[in-house]
Amino acid sequence: MSTGPGLGRPERAGDTPDDREPAAETATPPEESAAEDQDRPAAPSGHAMWGATTSGTADNVGYVPTGTGGGTPPGRSSQGESELVREALRDAKVSRESSTVVQETAVAALKAMAGRRERDWPRPDHCRVITIANQKGGVGKTTSSVNIAASLALHGARVLVVDLDPQGNASTALGIDHHAEIPSIYDVLIEDTPMEDIVVPSPEIPNLHCAPATLNLAGAEIELVSKVARESRLRRALDSYDIAKFDYVLIDCPPSLGLLTVNALVGADELLIPIQCEYYALEGLGQLIRTVDLVKAHLNPKLNVSTILLTMYDARTRLAAQVAEDVRAHFGEIVLNTVIPRSVRVSEAPSYGQSVITYDPGSSGALAYSEAASEIAHRGAGAAK
Ligand SMILES: Nc1ncnc2c1ncn2[C@@H]1O[C@H](COP(=O)(O)OP(=O)(O)OP(=O)(O)O)[C@@H](O)[C@H]1O
Ligand SMILES: [Mg+2]
Repeated sequence: MSTGPGLGRPERAGDTPDDREPAAETATPPEESAAEDQDRPAAPSGHAMWGATTSGTADNVGYVPTGTGGGTPPGRSSQGESELVREALRDAKVSRESSTVVQETAVAALKAMAGRRERDWPRPDHCRVITIANQKGGVGKTTSSVNIAASLALHGARVLVVDLDPQGNASTALGIDHHAEIPSIYDVLIEDTPMEDIVVPSPEIPNLHCAPATLNLAGAEIELVSKVARESRLRRALDSYDIAKFDYVLIDCPPSLGLLTVNALVGADELLIPIQCEYYALEGLGQLIRTVDLVKAHLNPKLNVSTILLTMYDARTRLAAQVAEDVRAHFGEIVLNTVIPRSVRVSEAPSYGQSVITYDPGSSGALAYSEAASEIAHRGAGAAK
């Protein structure tokens, strides 16, 4: 399992009282809100903080799983999470444990559960290709790709993560080698190498695979310019690969709207946009949506902005609540009910070459990503059309 170059394994932050980060502006006394947050992974809609939504979007954001007759599936709460998973994760709560034995047991239990309770989350009848993009940097694209992929795979779905970012962060987070000599997505896009020559299994999670990115990919933006069908090269590669053996292909994009991201938009059926609950979060979204419209008009009419995920939510700040409210008011039902909280465990996990789902299954970040993945699985491909 790789750690980042020059990165020693950090000490587990078991000595920190909470896996949250300090906030500058507090809406409630820190002690109170920190205590509140310990078992609450995310703020569901209908929670008081959404109450002030101006345009009645409380109804819009109501989570109605598709493919299940619109009702709440058995064993599933109205928030969409599987009771079984919730219960198992609650039992596996290890975020403040220092014992790795306890944690390994919890991970093993999760993996076993994934095999047994596959039916908890419906698998799509065709492979859903979902691009995770936002040209704003550091909003949680990679973190969301990796953790949603891990959650889906742990619930029996067969998942491929395509790392389309020269930084190779998704490859790192999945514990996949991605030094310059590794066959990578660069070779697929530029050298016409078949996908099957570069896809590798996750060392940790069954059913999870990765098409890694190396630094070579940094040159691809320029090298692609002179290539035939430069915007559709990923689509072609996926078309000639047997993607039917996967339930989901998740494509992690770089923070730009260059040819790599355009290739991801042309190659996908769906777009998931992570939005950080911070000031400026909405800036640049207009440009992203315009790019999507252009891609739809000229290159990929199937592309559907199906999902928005609010990330790095800090329940102690009024700002985060305000941003979340604005996003829900603007985008309505495509915004997942689940909100990803800011959590130190989420940011620690990649340095162990792990998703937070396996690194600390009981942490608020792991629970939230698991719930977000459950929503995605239940909403199905056509939910936001
Ligand atoms: N919920 C969270 N809580 C705390 N830290 C987080 C959370 N989500 C992401 N981070 C951290 O924020 C940073 C940016 O996240 P990430 O790399 O996923 O964003 P990105 O959009 O992929 O960035 P880039 O645009 O550079 O590709 C990382 O250090 C990550 O560990
Ligand atoms: Mg990234």
